[in-house]
Amino acid sequence: MKKILITGASGFVGSHLVEEALNRNLEVYAGIRKTSSRKYLQHPDLKFAELNFEDQDSLKKLVDDHEFDYIIHNAGLVNAARLDDFWRVNFDYVKNFTAALDGRQPQKFTFISSLAAYGPASNDAPNDYLYEERIPKPINTYGKSKLAAEQHLRSLDKLPHVIIRPGGVYGPRDQDFFTFYKLLNRGIEAYIGKRPQQLALIYVKDLVRVVLDATLSDKTNKGYFVSDGKYYTQHQLGDAAKKAIGKKTIRFHVPLKAVRAVAWCMEQFGKGNGRHPALNLEKVRILESLNWKCDIEPLIQDYKFQPAWSLEEGVAESIEWYRKEGWL
Ligand SMILES: NC(=O)c1ccc[n+]([C@@H]2O[C@H](COP(=O)([O-])OP(=O)(O)OC[C@H]3O[C@@H](n4cnc5c(N)ncnc54)[C@H](OP(=O)(O)O)[C@@H]3O)[C@@H](O)[C@H]2O)c1
Repeated sequence: MKKILITGASGFVGSHLVEEALNRNLEVYAGIRKTSSRKYLQHPDLKFAELNFEDQDSLKKLVDDHEFDYIIHNAGLVNAARLDDFWRVNFDYVKNFTAALDGRQPQKFTFISSLAAYGPASNDAPNDYLYEERIPKPINTYGKSKLAAEQHLRSLDKLPHVIIRPGGVYGPRDQDFFTFYKLLNRGIEAYIGKRPQQLALIYVKDLVRVVLDATLSDKTNKGYFVSDGKYYTQHQLGDAAKKAIGKKTIRFHVPLKAVRAVAWCMEQFGKGNGRHPALNLEKVRILESLNWKCDIEPLIQDYKFQPAWSLEEGVAESIEWYRKEGWL
């Protein structure tokens, strides 16, 4: 039985990766920290590996002891209270981890990056899109830290790797889209800015399927954007969620200028205590970016990727899950 280590296994994407890996009859190690929740890691066949990415010796011992065939490095920070944290977790930890693997390389090291590593395509050219050979231009620290990690991986000639760049991932256990659904459930349909965005989205079950396909394949040293191949305005996402929630809502748009002003004030305030507020100017820059189209043709060619879930189906299943779990 082949051994796979999945880091960040306690989180949203990680816990789904674990389930998909177990379905593929792999010997699965959930890479977690001492403090991580095991709520979604209850399968009796699952094994655990406690990771401390700051401690090179313990990392080295772990990979030497286990000789993993595959590693999916999914642990990462999507939101952070300090900008430095993005660099520490999304970049430094990748360097520490890959250094520990020197001499004990798995058959594949899959890195979960993000569309944000390339930044958005042009706002003013609706046909513009992101593709592998394009020069990446991340517009926030999160994206910059992911890009730096990608560049580091590419610089290592001995480690067979694959880079996965998902767009917005939605599904059961996700907390980010959930904030939007929660408001809809209360009858509030709030959007920031009025101009329609072209969002690249992927249902978590489709994402983890293709991540495992890429990890187990013999294709190496490639990067892939992942979306369901369609693009959605923020209103289409809202419509799918409203249909599943089944409640009447009042729709309104908060002007981007107002949000920018609030974000600026919060940043000034945050400077005093060294914290990066949840609403910040980088977030506003992302909201102002309209075009997140990306090329998934390489996924189709290499793995015959076909999303099994439409936006309506995926959102409906998610809402059902949030209800069942008492979140909604
Ligand atoms: N969700 C999306 O829309 C999306 C889109 C593109 C890319 N991604 C990428 O997908 C990956 C997973 O994201 P997610 O949405 O599943 O986020 P999540 O639910 O917040 O999960 C993050 C995971 O990373 C672990 N982690 C965070 N900081 C860590 C640290 N200092 N040391 C060790 N482990 C740490 C967390 O462990 P604890 O539980 O112990 O905190 C958790 O297991 C990330 O790399 C993210 O950049 C996500």
